[in-house]
Amino acid sequence: MNNDSSGRLADSFGRVAKKLRISITDRCNMQCMYCMPREDHKENRNDSLRSNTGKWFPRNEILSYVELVRISRIMARLGIENIRVTGGEPLLRPRIEDLVAGLSRISGIKSVSMTTNGLLLCDKAARLKESGLQSVNISLDTFKSERFKAITGVDGLHTVLESIHVAGTTGLKIKINAVIVRGWNDTEVADFANFARETGHTVRFIEFMPLDGSGIWAPELVVGKNEMISRISEDVGELVPSAGSNSAPAKLYSFADGKGTVGFISSMTEPFCAECDRTRVTSDGRLLTCLFENPGHDIKSLLRGGKTDEEIADYIMQCIKKKPEGIIGIIRAKALKPTLNLMHTIGG
Ligand code: 5AD
Ligand code: SF4
Repeated sequence: MNNDSSGRLADSFGRVAKKLRISITDRCNMQCMYCMPREDHKENRNDSLRSNTGKWFPRNEILSYVELVRISRIMARLGIENIRVTGGEPLLRPRIEDLVAGLSRISGIKSVSMTTNGLLLCDKAARLKESGLQSVNISLDTFKSERFKAITGVDGLHTVLESIHVAGTTGLKIKINAVIVRGWNDTEVADFANFARETGHTVRFIEFMPLDGSGIWAPELVVGKNEMISRISEDVGELVPSAGSNSAPAKLYSFADGKGTVGFISSMTEPFCAECDRTRVTSDGRLLTCLFENPGHDIKSLLRGGKTDEEIADYIMQCIKKKPEGIIGIIRAKALKPTLNLMHTIGG
């Protein structure tokens, strides 16, 4: 394989994948209502999506660290530059720092980062940083203890706030992800903006996408970027777009006094599919070229079936060529509905 990787992961819309997200487990120690299949929402569930909805992938179906590093190395040779480790909850996998170290050593990889719910981060933050992790995105949707429990199913607000603090002291770069859902936490948008100003951590507001395991998604529950900007401007202060920010897909804004940065991931109201440079591998070994692709492309059977790196690379290039347009096409076709895919098996 030669080293000229430019355009090897290009799709038919001219987009080139540079970022790989690997979901290393579908298991989670939370059950966020906008993500996990939950028993209390069972009646709404779209169980036809995947036969295993509501159960975890069997352990032998989950890619090993050796397999994950191999696939990442193949994809780095094809042009991937950044890797994000996600879940479910990635910190549930034992010796996660070994995986982070293995991924960090891959030639061509410029950064390894992680998205976590923060419950187990406190003890692991320092070791992850030493293993080469550069940044963590920590999910936090509320500052109210009771509401935290209602949203996530876990009484864990204090633990997550502590993790954010401790991770900050290790030198890991930290961003906060807040999924805003109308009627659940939309009254706290200003509190999140103030948190960004006080801590210096960028808070990214994520519009609720139909990737919920419970079938609760509805268009009225989506709080759009512009609505959030108005609320913050009224309650906290005027927001100004940050010039030249390299933070796609989040659109970053700062406050007029220069203190604090917030971002908006406006997947629903301003889809950014045309600029998408991501691709994903699920823990059960499927390549998803788009969040809304299901079931995706089976690479595990190639990995486990004795195929060479070159054969696997060829297959990946063919899959990427067929990458669908994305949610923008689904919106245009008026085909939005709950549970278009399962976020806990993809990891965002
Ligand atoms: N819509 C938007 N974001 C979601 N996440 C999980 N489910 C959804 C959804 N339905 C977010 C999590 C986490 C990231 C991995 O994805 O909050 O920050
Ligand atoms: Fe777990 Fe993250 Fe899904 Fe919440 S959003 S249930 S923390 S995987």
